[in-house]
Amino acid sequence: MEYSWPSDSAMFYSILLVFPLLLFICGSRCRRNLNLPPGPCPWPIIGNLNLMGSLPHRSIHSLSQKYGPIMQLRFGSFPVVVGSSVEMAKLFLKTHDANFASRPRTAAGKYTTYNYSDMVWATYGPYWRQARKIFLIEIFSPKRLESFEFIRVQEIKKFLFGLYKSSAKPVHLKDHLSKLSLNVISRMVLGKNYTEETEQDFVTPQEYTEMLQELFYLNGVLEIGDSIPWLGFLDLQGHIKRMKALMKKLDRFYELVLHEHNAKRKSSTGFVASDMVDVLLQLADDPTLEFKLERDQVKALIQDLLAGGTESSTVTLEWAISELMKKPEIFDKATKELDRVIGRNRLVEEKDIVDLPYIDAIVKETMRLHPVAPMLVPRFARENCKVAGYDIPKNTRVLVNVWAIGRDPTIWENPNEFRPERFFGKEIDVKGHDFELLPFGAGRRMCPGYDLGLKVIQTSLSNLLQCFEWKLPGDMKKEDLDMEESFGLSTPKKIPLLVVPQPRLPIHVYSM
Ligand code: HEM
Repeated sequence: MEYSWPSDSAMFYSILLVFPLLLFICGSRCRRNLNLPPGPCPWPIIGNLNLMGSLPHRSIHSLSQKYGPIMQLRFGSFPVVVGSSVEMAKLFLKTHDANFASRPRTAAGKYTTYNYSDMVWATYGPYWRQARKIFLIEIFSPKRLESFEFIRVQEIKKFLFGLYKSSAKPVHLKDHLSKLSLNVISRMVLGKNYTEETEQDFVTPQEYTEMLQELFYLNGVLEIGDSIPWLGFLDLQGHIKRMKALMKKLDRFYELVLHEHNAKRKSSTGFVASDMVDVLLQLADDPTLEFKLERDQVKALIQDLLAGGTESSTVTLEWAISELMKKPEIFDKATKELDRVIGRNRLVEEKDIVDLPYIDAIVKETMRLHPVAPMLVPRFARENCKVAGYDIPKNTRVLVNVWAIGRDPTIWENPNEFRPERFFGKEIDVKGHDFELLPFGAGRRMCPGYDLGLKVIQTSLSNLLQCFEWKLPGDMKKEDLDMEESFGLSTPKKIPLLVVPQPRLPIHVYSM
């Protein structure tokens, strides 16, 4: 029999298949000495990715019902541990918070955030700590947020007036909500409203919105190279190409923003920062800062503010109104509270929220059932660690399934029912202290923008309920309303809500 060497390509493919298999077998041998959390048996190369459906938090929830509140999966080459109970959330986000305070390295972090220079994807360490301090002390200080209240007031008025003009016609509520949050955040961060056409615009409103939408999409997709790194270079899904193209455009935009802001600073004596970019640029010039803030880092932090401040509140508000459309009796109670506390002759202001406990409960109930980030943002074990008696090796990725905790029948009675009253007489907050409700996460990596997010959501929701009666279009009944989720950076409604606003206050309240 004639023997022949395999061709180069056959050799290449054999190595491609055999090498990971060997790694996998060696890996499982080493793991035998460890007491790892229970979990399904992984396949070579793909691990347990085959068990993930189109909504991974739901697939993972089903698996955790079989394997328990702490469970180990494998996404391609990486071990992933999932905590799905209050007790596990506390262990990961409080007891061992420092060990799990880093983020895994992802393609989105590398290509869309100036090589992990933003805060969301930054590795835990001195740079992240400084960025976090800047956000908490300089950007989101109560004084700074208060100084921007006039912007939120003006934009909410504009938003309500826009809906008033669409009275009696079906509107896609999300379009209006997106515009509201984008306007609020653009004016606070960039000092300018990029969603309205002006003559000197260097980016059209459409381009601006499209760039941010692409950023949300690419930060939410399941990139194959994040799980199977040796396949990353092939860019099989084309995501890396899109990330690079997007960043070229975004970088041009940020450069122009910085140029405009620097020119404004130079042209005035006794300059006072009037937006968040001004604050970041002043800090970049500050010689006393522990780490000099480089230009790319300023751009990455601007991007965090723009991205963090828009999608999350839009998605939460769309879910809130959708849930209320299904429960008219809750709608009635909320409007009764608003009529009693606010009356019918003015809009709701931020300072009114403390007097609106039912609205507060509706927001909490929405965030319980529809957390924007159902498994928070992935964390990463910096060192070997023991959690609940199990070994968690260094470099393990960690997810906390807050979506599952929000539906845990041992904590919540009839967990799938939307019932804001469940919060009455309970001291449960969303600010990271009560582990049964963690829409903003908890611990060191908890969302730094929660106060702003809450203000926008509570005030917008109050005004939407106070100013309009909402009807479903045509013959549609509340039972027909689709409540399916779609996967992404946030977890929005799969089918956008279409509703008909009907003004319920005197005309002068809507006039700008
Ligand atoms: C409804 C509003 C919001 C929700 C539900 C939300 C949710 C979250 C969640 C779940 C995390 C991850 C926490 C963790 O890993 O434990 C996060 C992180 C973050 N959020 Fe938010 N967020 C909101 C609003 C905002 C706003 C308004 C901003 C900024 C303008 C913002 C900026 C950030 C940043 C920079 C991080 C990363 C923090 C870090 O890794 O150190 N968020 N947010």
